[in-house]
Amino acid sequence: VIRSATPADAPAVVALAVASELFPPEEAGAVETLLAEFFAGRAEQGHTCLVDDANPTDGHRGLRAVAYYQPLAATDRAWELLMIGVHRDRHRQGVGARLLGHVEDDLRARGQRLLLVQTSADPAFDRARAFYAALGYDEEARVRDYFGDGDDMVLFRRAL
Ligand SMILES: CC(C)(COP(=O)(O)OP(=O)(O)OC[C@H]1O[C@@H](n2cnc3c(N)ncnc32)[C@H](O)[C@@H]1OP(=O)(O)O)[C@@H](O)C(=O)NCCC(=O)NCCS
Repeated sequence: VIRSATPADAPAVVALAVASELFPPEEAGAVETLLAEFFAGRAEQGHTCLVDDANPTDGHRGLRAVAYYQPLAATDRAWELLMIGVHRDRHRQGVGARLLGHVEDDLRARGQRLLLVQTSADPAFDRARAFYAALGYDEEARVRDYFGDGDDMVLFRRAL
């Protein structure tokens, strides 16, 4: 079931951010901060956090996937997907594609125009780039050394 995250989900979302291999354990605090700020009022500014809650009957409990997206300042209805992660045990089963489809449907229903997502050119993000490309996202730009020396940013774009 895909639904909005609630404050009670926060610990599970942080755990999932690590279990999806989106963040190393030592960076889990960044997700904790993001969620704390989200529940403290960012939702009113349009920020959205969706979770895919596993159906207990299929043998999995807890959250399968999370996505967080926010409007981009100084643009006309352009958005950024800040994070998407699927539990490692559930990779390559269509969970991420379904969740991202849901994100796009939500934004279309809200009359929004563009969805951007930053990822890294590092081999650790090969599967993320393959994922966005498979789902019809265009590789729009690269910013050399963005995340660090030798770690380029790859910007994907999806017209809604
Ligand atoms: C990227 C991620 C969200 C994909 O989620 P997923 O549920 O495994 O992806 P799906 O099963 O929906 O895959 C959809 C399509 O994307 C492509 N794809 C996904 N994972 C891939 C991989 N490891 N290698 C190559 N292609 C891949 C395939 O075309 C796939 O379709 P197919 O399985 O029918 O061939 C997941 O790997 C993840 O959580 N990674 C760690 C966190 C991360 O990097 N997030 C993005 C940060 S920018």
